[in-house]
Amino acid sequence: MSKMEVKTSLLDNMIGVGDMVLLEPLSEESFIDNLRKRFDHNEIYTYIGSVVISLNPYKSLPIFTADKVEEYRNRNFYELSPHIYALADEAYRSLRDQDKDQCILITGESGAGKTEASKLVMSYVAAVCGKGHEVNKVKEQLLQSNPVLEAFGNAKTVRNDNSSRFGKYMDIEFDFKGDPLGGVISNYLLEKSRVVKQPRGERNFHIFYQLLSGASEDTLRKLKLDRDFSKYNYLSLDSATVNGLDDAAGFRTVRNAMQIVGFMEDEMQSVLELVAAVLKLGNIEFKPESRVNGFDESRVKDKNDLKEMCELLGIEQSVLERAFSFRTVEAKLEKVSTTLNVAQAYYARDALAKNLYSRLFSWLVQRINESIKAQTKSRKKVMGVLDIYGFEIFEDNSFEQFIINYCNEKLQQIFIELTLREEQEEYIREGIEWTNIEYFNNAIICDLIENNQNGILAMLDEECLRPGTVTDETFLDKLNTVCAEHQHFESRLSKNSKFLTDHSLPHNCFRIQHYAGKVLYRVEGFVDKNNDLLYRDLSQAMYKANHSLMKMLFPEGNPDKVNLKRPPTAGFQFRASVSTLMKNLQTKNPNYIRCIKPNEKKAPHIFTDSLVCHQVRYLGLMENVRVRRAGYAFRQAYEPCLERYKMLCKQTWPHWRGPTRKGVEVLLTDLQVPAEEFSYGRSKIFIRNPRTLFFLEEKRRHCLEDLATLIQKIYRGWKCRTHFLLLKKSQVVVAAWYRRYAQQKKYQNIKRSTIIVQSFIRGWKARKILRELKYQKRCEEAVTTIAAYWHGTQARRELKRLKEEARRKHAVAVIWAYWLGLKVRREYRKFFRANAGKKIYDFTVQRIMQKYFLGLKNTMPSMSPTDKNWPARPYQFLDGTHQALRRIFHLWRCKKYRSQFTEEKKAIYEEKLEASQMFKDKKALYPSSVGQPFKGDYLEIKKNPKYQKLNSAVEEKILLADVINKINRANGKSTPRIFLLTKSHFVLADHKTGQVKVSVPLSDVTSVSVSTQSDGFFALKLKEGSTSAAKGDFLLSSERLIEIITKLYRTGSATADREQLNIDITDEFLVQFKQDKVCVKFIQGSPKNGNSATCKRKNNRLVEVSVPSP
Ligand SMILES: Nc1ncnc2c1ncn2[C@@H]1O[C@H](COP(=O)(O)OP(=O)(O)O)[C@@H](O)[C@H]1O
Ligand SMILES: [Mg+2]
Repeated sequence: MSKMEVKTSLLDNMIGVGDMVLLEPLSEESFIDNLRKRFDHNEIYTYIGSVVISLNPYKSLPIFTADKVEEYRNRNFYELSPHIYALADEAYRSLRDQDKDQCILITGESGAGKTEASKLVMSYVAAVCGKGHEVNKVKEQLLQSNPVLEAFGNAKTVRNDNSSRFGKYMDIEFDFKGDPLGGVISNYLLEKSRVVKQPRGERNFHIFYQLLSGASEDTLRKLKLDRDFSKYNYLSLDSATVNGLDDAAGFRTVRNAMQIVGFMEDEMQSVLELVAAVLKLGNIEFKPESRVNGFDESRVKDKNDLKEMCELLGIEQSVLERAFSFRTVEAKLEKVSTTLNVAQAYYARDALAKNLYSRLFSWLVQRINESIKAQTKSRKKVMGVLDIYGFEIFEDNSFEQFIINYCNEKLQQIFIELTLREEQEEYIREGIEWTNIEYFNNAIICDLIENNQNGILAMLDEECLRPGTVTDETFLDKLNTVCAEHQHFESRLSKNSKFLTDHSLPHNCFRIQHYAGKVLYRVEGFVDKNNDLLYRDLSQAMYKANHSLMKMLFPEGNPDKVNLKRPPTAGFQFRASVSTLMKNLQTKNPNYIRCIKPNEKKAPHIFTDSLVCHQVRYLGLMENVRVRRAGYAFRQAYEPCLERYKMLCKQTWPHWRGPTRKGVEVLLTDLQVPAEEFSYGRSKIFIRNPRTLFFLEEKRRHCLEDLATLIQKIYRGWKCRTHFLLLKKSQVVVAAWYRRYAQQKKYQNIKRSTIIVQSFIRGWKARKILRELKYQKRCEEAVTTIAAYWHGTQARRELKRLKEEARRKHAVAVIWAYWLGLKVRREYRKFFRANAGKKIYDFTVQRIMQKYFLGLKNTMPSMSPTDKNWPARPYQFLDGTHQALRRIFHLWRCKKYRSQFTEEKKAIYEEKLEASQMFKDKKALYPSSVGQPFKGDYLEIKKNPKYQKLNSAVEEKILLADVINKINRANGKSTPRIFLLTKSHFVLADHKTGQVKVSVPLSDVTSVSVSTQSDGFFALKLKEGSTSAAKGDFLLSSERLIEIITKLYRTGSATADREQLNIDITDEFLVQFKQDKVCVKFIQGSPKNGNSATCKRKNNRLVEVSVPSP
């Protein structure tokens, strides 16, 4: 916290007084006035010391926000305006920091806001205590137990739309750090009569309506329920729907809350089944059936609901049906079965419904406890919150009110005991003398009710257990006799005869003067309610149900554990649980919240004085204030006290250096407060009268005003001064900066001007120099030009002169030469002979020729006849000579070349010559043959032993032997054959064996035909009529065609008696094949089958030779 934070106090901005202890004067009137005043200003909380009075605002106020929680967190109780959060914070902090178990006791009548207050306390504690995943889960479970219990235990009443119909005490357990660990809930006395009957304008428990409006169709079908409320006898139609209460949404909230708390899905289902069973039970009706003995026996009227209920819970229908008609009474091993009449059957039915529901409710509490109980065994700190029904005074008060009011008496006891004890302890602690205070102690009333011997509850139990006829009346009689003398007991028939004339006291009633007022109780139903009987047949029937939860709720129905002892009565049970509660509370530090209902209309802004006054009275609030004020009205620790009032005294203002107690003493002495008005405790100052406190407060207010003025004055002065100083300082700074700026500007201006002037002058000077320089340069240029022109003129003049001179000299020389020539010719003419010219000429020619030949001799070409070289001619006139010499030289060298030849070589060349004469330029095959020497015998017949036979067949000299192809005349296919040529014959022989096929005398061969092309085909035509011509002409082919034909031709020409052989070169010729004249035709073909020509007989007139084009 910062030092500047304003310390507030309860006493600041107070509307009325925030603490009733300070009320002055103290009277009931001023008390109520103060409450009203505060209520009108939405101040619903007021303190009596540390007790909080809470008025129900019946509207939502903006004082329960998270911000508020923060505001009250860790603040002292009296520091802020009264609030329930202040109490919760105080309780939580002393629990956490001082290790004191706490209990928060919330009392007040129905609708006063107890349940809301308990929720506010819980939510505040949840908000300020530790955080974390586990802790949050625990908090959530604790908070979510509320909606579940409210759904099953709350109902709309005339006083409160959400009235708790059970008492609740919840212990919240914390660990040493103050983090919540879990909780334990105890429930007290559910108002179960509501299950079967509701007063006018009220409803049954919320869960019935929530289930019917909020459950899905499917769920309802499973539970065999109908959405329509009017179908169920137990739901009064009167006020089935409540304004501002959405039952369907409520159902979802409950389911969700049950889930969070930890209910299993099947548990929830079982619970709903039991709720449905209660509704069904209400619809079972009975009719009388006459019996022979004259008694009526009850019978179930319409069995449909009974059947459905039995199906729902798995009960055998006949068992339940019987239980509604008969009753078994067991006494000492004897069983007697009596019939039930209709009224008894209805009683039994309702008893079952009530028991079923209240046991279900207790089971729920126990089940929630299982979920929320703390998981550790370590020591826990506990904060208990008690939200129990308040004092109830109705027109018609019965057993329930009696019990409730008894509980309130007990609480009041605790209150008295604890507050007074607390007060006393504080006085002792502070060392202040204790003065006894008169107050009403209600122990006597408690005794009247709970005394073991003659208390009202004890007598009721006695009456219930007594054999013989027992009625409410006999009970009242008993009371009359036993309690007659008691101060707080009144009845018409009591010995106290003064009541005989009191007509406000009817006969069947008794009255108790409770600490909070007199209450008239009607005895009717006391015995029954206390007995709380459920026929054993019914509990046994329930135990037989095939429904685990149901079984669990009726353990006494177990036939194996028949217990003939009566169960404890309701009164006894309640007394016991209240006593445990009281013991529990006594060990804890109490914190009280007293709830007050401002009006009966549940409306905001209405404050009914009489109603509030009544509550103030029975809550004993005035007494509370008085007790509190009996000694000292106000107490405060020394430090905050000194802090608050130190400005009232010069010594303590503004700082007190010594111990605070001393400071307070100085202060009070200085203010001249009378000494009896206060006492000095050890740590606190005790102020006896509120007046003194208000005197101090008033003084403080005045003083604060003066102080405020003083502070304002000083502050204003200080502010002005600082402002002025700041201005001054700023002014200096500004001025300095400005001056600097101005000087800078001025300097810059001067500098700029100087530069401008300077530049003008420099420019002017430069231009002047430039002008001079330019003039000078022009002068120099002019001189040069003039000089150049002058030199030019002089040079040209000189040139002209020299030219003239040269021309003249030349002319002189020419003339001189002519002249000399003329002179010489004239002189030597007489010496020349007449033919001298011819001689000179000849001589010259001779010389030239000589030179020519000598030159030719040195440049002669080679002796090769093929050498084409010949020197160039030197003179044109020697052209003829030169060519002639060349020809002569060539002939001579050819002759020389020829003369080297042998005979053989000569023959070969002759042959070649002949071949050239025949084929050159005529057949394309010829050029390829030029380079080949004509060897003649390629097979070496003579030497080769393979051809011995052939050799012997041919006697003459073989001129040519080679393998050639013979073309078959019929189909043009070729066959290899040895071809031999002798002087007189040609022979064709088998090329393998050497067998002679044909031998044709050359005289029979008339002509040879070949093509112009590069093929080797040739036809040998035979003389007509000769023996060789019988088969016809031969068509042959050979690569050496040129050699063969040349040799053939030469053989022919060498023989004088034979005709010259005809060589026919043409591409189309006729041959004689037997009788046919066949045309052999050569065509240019595409080069296929390699490069060789192919021959084909086309028909009997045509043989076609295809020659590949070159
Ligand atoms: N602090 C509050 N602020 C607003 N409304 C309140 C407050 N306390 C109680 N109420 C209203 O009063 C009604 C009854 O309060 P409730 O706590 O149920 O009474 P009780 O438990 O004493 O019977 C609540 O339903 C609510 O409408
Ligand atoms: Mg309540």
